[in-house]
Amino acid sequence: MEKLMIAGGDPLKGTVRISGAKNSAVALIPATILADSPVTIEGLPDISDVLLLKGLLEEIGGKVNFSDEEMTVDPSLMISMPLPNGKVKKLRASYYLMGAMLGRFKKAVIGLPGGCHLGPRPIDQHIKGFEALGANVTNEQGAIYLRADELHGARIYLDVVSVGATINIMLAAVRAKGRTVIENAAKEPEIIDVATLLTNMGAKIKGAGTDVIRIDGVESLHGCRHTIIPDRIEAGTFMIMGATVGQGMLIDNVIPQHLESLTAKLREMGVNVESGDDQIYVEPGPNPLKAVDIKTLVYPGFPTDLQQPFTTLLTKAAGSSMVTDTIYGARFKHIDELRRMNANIKVEGRTAIINGPIQLQGAKVKASDLRAGAALVIAELLADGVTEVTGLEHIDRGYSNLVEKLTGLGATVWRESLTKEEVEHLKNI
Ligand code: EPU
Repeated sequence: MEKLMIAGGDPLKGTVRISGAKNSAVALIPATILADSPVTIEGLPDISDVLLLKGLLEEIGGKVNFSDEEMTVDPSLMISMPLPNGKVKKLRASYYLMGAMLGRFKKAVIGLPGGCHLGPRPIDQHIKGFEALGANVTNEQGAIYLRADELHGARIYLDVVSVGATINIMLAAVRAKGRTVIENAAKEPEIIDVATLLTNMGAKIKGAGTDVIRIDGVESLHGCRHTIIPDRIEAGTFMIMGATVGQGMLIDNVIPQHLESLTAKLREMGVNVESGDDQIYVEPGPNPLKAVDIKTLVYPGFPTDLQQPFTTLLTKAAGSSMVTDTIYGARFKHIDELRRMNANIKVEGRTAIINGPIQLQGAKVKASDLRAGAALVIAELLADGVTEVTGLEHIDRGYSNLVEKLTGLGATVWRESLTKEEVEHLKNI
């Protein structure tokens, strides 16, 4: 086990290249199961969730090659192997194996997914969708059993706008008989990316990126080559860094339209943000940062995944700011750690109230989930002294080559192995 060490205060400057989107990657990789011949995905991020999914595809008989951000999956010899335990429990996105395996084999056994603890994360809408398509779904000892004689198209209204349910139903429906209509679908860019891959594989999907998606089932899907979209959350994390400790940061390989809600908020705070075709330039404005309020919403609203990193930025703003998370009301585990670093924040229900500006101080802190980790890394860059963050395994799930990217921008950052005493201490808290 390792910890991340950062000596705060270095100004960050230069260009950072954004990797492929984690939340696309974790759906695109399972989607390859649906094809009958090899699928190649270019631009995948070098993160642990991608490696876990590679292992899962191999467990069910897939032949997978992964190097230089490119993965080729030959799904032709895959079988409907039950996956009740093991790697499936380590990532949230293992739920996409349900839709993909159901679509291809009409049956699947998948352990209930793991992932970040952000409060309750039910999958009732996924299950409602699978049932509407004709599957019998049962939960037996912590694993979901899905069986169908035949999948048929259906009209499915999502009671909650869900990224995961929208993609999962698409995966199961592309090889069902007849037309499926998903109403109140999520509109995140990752959904369009998955629909683009499936379309290149021969699926018939219309309306991805709007709240009504129509899918006409096809008999079979074939291999293809697909380039993943850039990670808007990784890009947003670097934009937030550029807004404070930056001395001019160019964020390269980004789709600026995916980050409009963040760009607008940064400008409201007084940060200079210039968008190009596939680049965004960020530098602190001439005046102190202004306090702002944010409320997380489904896309194109302010993303919940940037709420935690943005909270760290608000500790630098003059006045009182409010952060309300309407998607995950308990996504505030980073707040206690920021307080240990001297932040003045209180949480009331689904809202954090941040009073600034504050000079953060180096401390020993622990990342409890992926984006809490990102929030703490930004805090470390802002802090006086050396900070160490444990819980690095969460950060490694979503940020590709973070140390290299930060070092390239001028930060003093390194990884160190935890001592035996530190490992024991972490087990006890
Ligand atoms: N929900 C339900 N029932 C369902 C599904 C979702 O009530 O069947 C609720 C959730 O509890 C939540 C809301 O609906 O309150 C939205 O959840 P959604 O299904 O959209 O989230 P998800 O698909 O599980 C993805 C990302 C998350 C990101 C959310 C919201 C992946 C693998 N994960 O999760 O990413 O926060 O969408 O945009 O795509 C992260 O990257 O750090 C991360 C947690």
